[in-house]
Amino acid sequence: MNYRHEFHAGNFADVMKHALLLRLVGGLQKKEKGFLYLDTHAGRGAYDLTRAATGDSLARRPEWPDGVGRLTGRGEGPPGVAEYVALVRKFDGSRRGGTAADGAPKFYPGSPWFVREQARPQDRLALCERQPGECAALREEFQFSPRTTVQETDGYGAVRALLPPPERRALVLIDPPFEAQDEFARVAVALGEGLRRLPGGVFAVWYPLTERARVDNFFADLRALRPPPTLAAELTIAGDAAPVKLKGCGLVVINPPWQFDREAEPMLEFFGAALAQAPGGGGRVTWLVRE
Ligand SMILES: C[S@@+](CC[C@H](N)C(=O)[O-])C[C@H]1O[C@@H](n2cnc3c(N)ncnc32)[C@H](O)[C@@H]1O
Repeated sequence: MNYRHEFHAGNFADVMKHALLLRLVGGLQKKEKGFLYLDTHAGRGAYDLTRAATGDSLARRPEWPDGVGRLTGRGEGPPGVAEYVALVRKFDGSRRGGTAADGAPKFYPGSPWFVREQARPQDRLALCERQPGECAALREEFQFSPRTTVQETDGYGAVRALLPPPERRALVLIDPPFEAQDEFARVAVALGEGLRRLPGGVFAVWYPLTERARVDNFFADLRALRPPPTLAAELTIAGDAAPVKLKGCGLVVINPPWQFDREAEPMLEFFGAALAQAPGGGGRVTWLVRE
């Protein structure tokens, strides 16, 4: 397995995941009490988009121009989208050589950065990354961040090790590379463990829409856990007939904050139009287990 998120940073899937992540954090922060943010597959925390065009040996087509690159020049969009774009611009503008103005970004933040940006003094971050090089970069990026731990470890094990947190409140992002055949099954086991340890926790899982049948099996495994209210927010950027491998992606959210579905729907609709790569795309929220 040699997954490097660098090659995908800022693509349509990152856009959707990070914009919705911000809304999840906002939802949890409607209550004063602090919470633990556990990022089981945190990545390196910050990405240089110029490096996304070069592989170890092969030239790659960068993915961010069809993702965040389509949004930074646009001023429109529902509030959740505007908030996301403003943060991407802030991150990019803060890096040496970044683009302070409205132009195409040169740097793109990872999930831990988005959450750190919103974290209050009472919130904590636990960031896990198994790949040593990525974890070293993450550690450097977050070395001066208060209330943040970075661990080079298996993120699935961290669900067992870190839950329940003393705060009794948590947002857990599970964002694996989905290179292994059994990744969906491992996620389902981790969710079962997480729900046993913290039934009221908010669990968000990113997944790819490459084969619908695999996603349907995953949903069946989730329902078998008899979880609390659970929804799936999905974005498709191309219809079934299109010659595009990754046709979309989704975010399953267990225990979504109040009205998260109402915030997510217009954002997904907007992304469905703005990020389409072929006819037949769109965005929607489906309840797997009703509120
Ligand atoms: C999709 S990327 C994460 C992106 C990040 N969450 C973000 O949104 O910016 C997946 C990461 O998981 C790491 N990884 C793979 N297997 C892992 C495991 N079992 N535990 C922790 N990290 C793992 C990979 O090295 C990769 O950096």
